[in-house]
Amino acid sequence: MTDSPITSDNPFNICFVCLGNICRSPTAEGVFQHLVNQQGLQSYFYIDSAGTSAYHIGEPANSKSQQIANRKGIELKSRARRFESSDFNNFDLVIAMDDENYQNLKMLANGNNQLSKIKKLREFDPTPGDGNVPDPYYGGIDGFENVFNIVYRSSESLLNSLKNNIPQES
Ligand code: 4NP
Repeated sequence: MTDSPITSDNPFNICFVCLGNICRSPTAEGVFQHLVNQQGLQSYFYIDSAGTSAYHIGEPANSKSQQIANRKGIELKSRARRFESSDFNNFDLVIAMDDENYQNLKMLANGNNQLSKIKKLREFDPTPGDGNVPDPYYGGIDGFENVFNIVYRSSESLLNSLKNNIPQES
């Protein structure tokens, strides 16, 4: 995902992307930031989220997403925004929640360097299922809890892999 060392002077910029930017990607942003904070790695990462649609621009995270995250001690602070082609210039890694987001992001990318920045979150899930983080929007609280659990274990594994690029202090 990156060959260059991740340092405080050269932090790693990561953007999680779903459709509305109110359920799955805000959860991923909040969980990944929480794990980074827990490990004292704040200066090494810049973390954001966005949506491929404009449906919910400006809205906070869905109340059920917030409820589940709060229960686990995590605050979701995002305000929905749309992912723009220009974001590819600002992020090292752009993480899609499902195939639809992945395909939409691919259409926004310019050239192989930008295309290579796009991954799906469940590529990092130890139990990846069908590779998609299911859209919980029209369902009940159980779906949101399922999303949280998928996002949490995938984020742990993603962070572990990125930590290999943080040089050890000598
Ligand atoms: P998200 O969930 O992509 O995880 O934020 C959705 C939010 C809104 C809609 C669909 C999915 N919607 O159709 O408005």
